[in-house]
Amino acid sequence: MHPASAPVRRHVPSLLACAAALLCSTGLVEAAPRVLKDWPAVKSLVAADPAMEARIRAIVAGMSLAEKVGQMTQPEIKYITPEEAGRHHIGSVLNGGGAWPGNKREASVADWLALSQAYHEALMSSGARTPIPIIWGTDAVHGHGNVRGATLFPHNIGLGAAGDAALVEEIGAATARAVRATGIQWVFAPTLAVAQDARWGRTYESFSADPMVVARLGAASVRGLQGQLGDSSRVVATAKHFIGDGSTEFGRDQGHSQVSRAQMINVHGQGYYATLATGVQTVMASFHSWTDVGAKPASKDYGKMHGSHELLTVALKEKMGFDGLVVSDWNGISQVPGCRDSSCPQAIKAGIDMVMVPEDWRAFIQNTIAQVERGEIPMSRIDDAVTRILRVKMRAGLFETSPRQSAVAGKPEALLARDLARRAVRQTLVLLKNERGALPLAQGKRILVVGKSADNLANQAGGWSMTWQGTDTQNADFPASQSILSGIREVAGAATLSFSADGSGVDPSQFDAVIAVIGETPYAEGVGDISPSSTLQHSRRYPEDLAVLRAVSGRGVPVISVFLSGRTVYANDLLNLSDAFVAAWLPGSEGAGVADLLFKNAAGQVAHDFRAKLPFAWPSAPCVSAKSQPQFKPGYGLSYAKPGTVRQLPVSVRSGGCDVSKELLIFRQTGQGPYQMHVGSPSGAWPNRGLGSDLNAVLEAPAEQPAIRVSTTQINTQQDAKRLVWMGPATFHIGSNQQADLTVYPAPALVFDLLPEQAPQRPVRLRMECGPGCGGTLDLQRVISALPTGQRHSLKIPLACFAAQGADLSRIGAPFNLTADAPFAAAFAHIRVRAGAAQEPDALSCSQFSPAP
Ligand code: BGC
Ligand code: BGC
Repeated sequence: MHPASAPVRRHVPSLLACAAALLCSTGLVEAAPRVLKDWPAVKSLVAADPAMEARIRAIVAGMSLAEKVGQMTQPEIKYITPEEAGRHHIGSVLNGGGAWPGNKREASVADWLALSQAYHEALMSSGARTPIPIIWGTDAVHGHGNVRGATLFPHNIGLGAAGDAALVEEIGAATARAVRATGIQWVFAPTLAVAQDARWGRTYESFSADPMVVARLGAASVRGLQGQLGDSSRVVATAKHFIGDGSTEFGRDQGHSQVSRAQMINVHGQGYYATLATGVQTVMASFHSWTDVGAKPASKDYGKMHGSHELLTVALKEKMGFDGLVVSDWNGISQVPGCRDSSCPQAIKAGIDMVMVPEDWRAFIQNTIAQVERGEIPMSRIDDAVTRILRVKMRAGLFETSPRQSAVAGKPEALLARDLARRAVRQTLVLLKNERGALPLAQGKRILVVGKSADNLANQAGGWSMTWQGTDTQNADFPASQSILSGIREVAGAATLSFSADGSGVDPSQFDAVIAVIGETPYAEGVGDISPSSTLQHSRRYPEDLAVLRAVSGRGVPVISVFLSGRTVYANDLLNLSDAFVAAWLPGSEGAGVADLLFKNAAGQVAHDFRAKLPFAWPSAPCVSAKSQPQFKPGYGLSYAKPGTVRQLPVSVRSGGCDVSKELLIFRQTGQGPYQMHVGSPSGAWPNRGLGSDLNAVLEAPAEQPAIRVSTTQINTQQDAKRLVWMGPATFHIGSNQQADLTVYPAPALVFDLLPEQAPQRPVRLRMECGPGCGGTLDLQRVISALPTGQRHSLKIPLACFAAQGADLSRIGAPFNLTADAPFAAAFAHIRVRAGAAQEPDALSCSQFSPAP
């Protein structure tokens, strides 16, 4: 049967709403309960074809080991030319977020297609006995996000609010056309995360907290993207990130999950059962790790997903019966203990078939070949991986159709689906509050528009839009798009419209209504995490939004807030200042879809009503726990047809963080919370130099007195570490103008990851500062010199050691002040104070530090 037209057949035992209280905690119900005890067998709509299998066997039998390993390797387009790809028999390339052909963001459809065709031709003329076409993958997670001029659809959180599988399927098909037009055949979507904690920076990639919604919409997305496999206007889809990426502690990206196996199977597995049944051909492993806290007699550690044979092979391939390919995530193999970007037999043995190794692909190929030759990786595993890759390529018709031969190849119009996107926007907006008939607005009124996001396409598109983070763009980077402001202009009829981003220079009382477009600014992945030492209170992170509402409210003119966000947040203060409040998520490129819901038509009628419902609970406090009552429950949403009343809401503030008793995050990719970085001169020879929020910015002593250089590198995950190179005496400082009371943490230690590059020959003084002249300093020279260079180490320094040297732990302003001298070079990552760490067996003891000079 044609998968695209197939009824949503449930091969999966149909599941569970409030089954065994597991899902009751989410308060959500979509289908009938039945608790699974084990990973279920799933029957895919795409059945194995014996003739195809025979053809694959014959090809694999004729491949050299180098060809096989090349087939399993996926470099990034910035790091490999078509010629190199052909020479190394590469099986796949990807373009990461913000990677474009020739590094040109204005690359046209023709440029993309030409690069894809070049890779293809290089592989087809590589001299292999049977030339194997390459497959290119991209993150088209809400439309073809990296391509200038492509329509951007609402992110998944909005589609979850709409809850409309037919809409998601249409968006999948439109995305596939756009991707195929550029010669790309594989999309790293849909994300099947069941996000549990809104602090997670990827919450907006999750459809819902309800696993059955994730299952239904995930399957629809796969139907839309893949259609009938082999159709040259569709693509191969990816179910990601396997498994339980939305379940990590504190909502930490790439973090650690502490859930039971029953929860993993019954909650986080749902999206996989549904998409595997629909025939999804690839699965991406997740960066995170998992401890099954329900295991008896003791909890069971699965470690990193990328290294888990039990999950990738036993659960996914054997029990669920998945016969497509498993791809690793960006350098994800390096997080498996004992692995590096360029080497990880463990991950291949665990069941990774295609290795996303963006930069270090040459060394990876060499190392992997050597590991097979030495018998560290069995040839049978390599053959299985290659078989799976060829199976996916054959099913997708790549042996028959070059990029240029796709039905939509090179067609610029295939990038556009503006009507569909605008309709989608209308379906995704949730009306949280509407008092005194603030909405709908009649046409022809005097409207004041305020807010930083009214005329900002980046803010309405969110992450994964032109760039990875969705930052560093301007409206001009999004041609064929409409800002919300422009949409209001179009829809408001002959209205008088004024716009002031910050609400200054205008008198609200001169207008009939104020529309404030406010909210979060773009982020992706861990950069968007809200740390345990902060809260979900929006106005604490974005005080300008509270300020703009204060500037316009209370003037007798109704204030309508349109709130853009990738998550649900605590916003009672903003709700109180608004007569109407619309959660608009990240609507994408068609801002007029927002205006469609706010205004009546020219005939004075409501043409479009609100239909969407909250996909996640809306918080009633800055910190939420499993027990707390939400302000608005999942499923909540008002409409013109069904209004409701929301009175003044209690407002609570919290100056600390939500999980402060467990951990204080100081540095994770950037300074966290109040913490800022600078470099300084111990003798005051040159003024301090600070670092902004750009991850790649470089921080250094002035050129005339070169003493230190700080750049971005990787220890665990991309761009997670700062590399410090001393050329003279200099201090690297992370501090804040607020003092933190670290005595609230039991048995605390300062914990960080360290990768020494060049051992120190002089003291390395790490100081915790508690104000002028107050602090405790330890000399780490001995400890660091003893560590092998070029390897990652995790250091745990009990805070008691700093206290013994004079630090007053009740008022620490700068928890990480590091002074050293040349020669010394090392990278540092993930710096935090963690409760309990001082008692862990690998914690350092105070006697290991030389008294600081
Ligand atoms: C993203 C890529 C991005 C890269 C930058 C990765 O995590 O997935 O798309 O280009 O980081 O380092
Ligand atoms: C993300 C994936 C993405 C990949 C490629 C990773 O950092 O976790 O979701 O597909 O980068 O850009």
